[in-house]
Parts: sequence; structure tokens; C-alpha cells
Amino acid sequence: MSEDDGNWRLLRPANEQAQQLFDLFLPLVSPLADGQTTSVIGQLGQSLDGRIATVSGHSRFINGDDGIVHLHRIRALSDAVVVGAGTAVADNPQLTVRRTSGDNPVRVVIDRRRRVPASHHLFTDNAAPTLRLIAGDYQPGPKPRLQELTSVLEVPCLGHNQQPVCPAQILAVLADFGLHKIFIEGGGVTVSAFLHAQLLDRLHVMVAPMIIGSGRPAFTLPEIDQLDDALRPRATMVNLGSDMLFALEFNVNHGGP
Ligand SMILES: NC(=O)c1ccc[n+]([C@@H]2O[C@H](COP(=O)([O-])OP(=O)(O)OC[C@H]3O[C@@H](n4cnc5c(N)ncnc54)[C@H](OP(=O)(O)O)[C@@H]3O)[C@@H](O)[C@H]2O)c1
Repeated sequence: MSEDDGNWRLLRPANEQAQQLFDLFLPLVSPLADGQTTSVIGQLGQSLDGRIATVSGHSRFINGDDGIVHLHRIRALSDAVVVGAGTAVADNPQLTVRRTSGDNPVRVVIDRRRRVPASHHLFTDNAAPTLRLIAGDYQPGPKPRLQELTSVLEVPCLGHNQQPVCPAQILAVLADFGLHKIFIEGGGVTVSAFLHAQLLDRLHVMVAPMIIGSGRPAFTLPEIDQLDDALRPRATMVNLGSDMLFALEFNVNHGGP
């Protein structure tokens, strides 16, 4: 790669897939633009029929090897990786970078009711700083240095009722911790909430050549009557090998300082 006029480009001609991946990852590597406070990317790995897991919650593995490497690359370029409690309970994920080089992001689980078992990797392996967002009122103020955290930090910020919290509130809390490049890794309920709130700058949907025929949906959004009301984001399609990536881009305004 070279940058002689402020624009990064590949030094040598690349095949189409390499050029597409370069174009997709460049904005994730680059610093945020002036006035941009946050950048949010979501991902879902789904079957041809739009399922991210079986009814009982098994999702290992819908995507093939190339899809999993892609997921780890996004983790490596993010300040924080966020999952909903449903994913943390069902998958017991580590959310670390293992299939590529790079630092582990801060791990964040949205777990209002503390239903993720204390024995799960996120809370026991000390592999990366981990925030558990729980019910309660958020207290802004000085924060511990996350890299020095030796145990999981519980952050009350999800209010006191059972209603989902506006995802913008979650981004504001993460920004307060100095976390600005945010990766919403799943599951469908969590990614759909950020999508519905128009807070995703990008969404990478990896489609595996698999039909499950039942199971947990990738997207759950309010009903619409007319297809005119469907979301039709800009899309780049990249054949990853094991999976087809639909890289979607949305126009989002995260607001300035
Ligand atoms: N294929 C893939 O890419 C992929 C990725 C991740 C997960 N998965 C699979 O997906 C399944 C889990 O996904 P899911 O869609 O059922 O659940 P999920 O999105 O992982 O978790 C949803 C839960 O997270 C909490 N939550 C999320 N957003 C919130 C908000 N704004 N305010 C308050 N709480 C919030 C709530 O927990 P409470 O109900 O406790 O309040 C909510 O019920 C698992 O089977 C997993 O294996 C697949």
C-alpha cells in the first residue's frame, strides 16, 4: 500500500477480490473523519433463508472458514465488539482476534438481567477488557483505564424497566469509555435494533450456501406494507470463497461533539 497524496492505494495491481476487500477495509483502518464521533459496523452470518441459528440457538457454524477470518479481521480493527445477552448465553464466545493479527477489542455484552453465566469465557478468561452493561442509571465521570482492568466491569446504564434501551445510549456510554469504532457482532435482535435506530454505518452480511428452513432470523424490523419502504442500501458483493459477502453502507449522522 502507498499513500503519496493522502489517498491509500495498492502498490501493485490486485485481483478483483483483493481490490474489493482493500476498498472495504480501508475506511475501517482509517481514523474517523473530523467531527465524526463514532463509527459502527454490524455483521450477520446467515443461511440462504435468512437464519442465523437453529430454533434451539445453534449457530456453529453457518459460515465457512473464509467468513470466520473476515469476522476476526473486523474485530481486529474495532475498539469494541458488542453482543447481546442471547448470543453470549448461547455461544459462550471469546470475541478475541485469533484468525488474523491484531489486538483484541474491548468486549461488551448487553446483559441487563445478568443472565449470562458467570462461568462463560467473557467473564473468566481475562483475554481482553470486558464491560457488562446492566440495568441501572449511568453515572458519567472519570473512567478506569480499560487496558488495566483485571476483572469484568459492570456498567449500569440500561435503565430500570424491561424495554430495550435506545442503542444511541449504548454508543454514548462506549464513547465515554473512549471506544469509538464499534463492531456489533450479533445476534439478530441486537443488530436489528441498531439498524432500526439508523446507527449502522456499515453492515456486513455473510451468506452461506445453506438452507436451514427454520430458526432464528437475521433481521427483525417493524412490518411494512410496500416494498418502497424496504431498506435498499448501497451494496458491494464480494465472493469470500466459503461465503458471499454483502457489504452494505448506510448514510448515518452520529452527530458532532
Ligand atoms: N450467525 C451469526 O452471525 C450470529 C452472530 C451472533 C449470534 N448468533 C446466534 O444468534 C442467537 C442469539 O441472537 P438473538 O438475536 O436471539 O439475541 P441477541 O441479539 O444476541 O441478544 C438479544 C438480547 O440482548 C439484550 N439486548 C440487546 N439489545 C438491547 C437493548 N437495546 N436494550 C436492552 N437489552 C438489549 C436483551 O437481553 P435481555 O432479554 O436479557 O434483556 C436481548 O433480548 C444465538 O443462537 C447465536 O448463536 C449468530
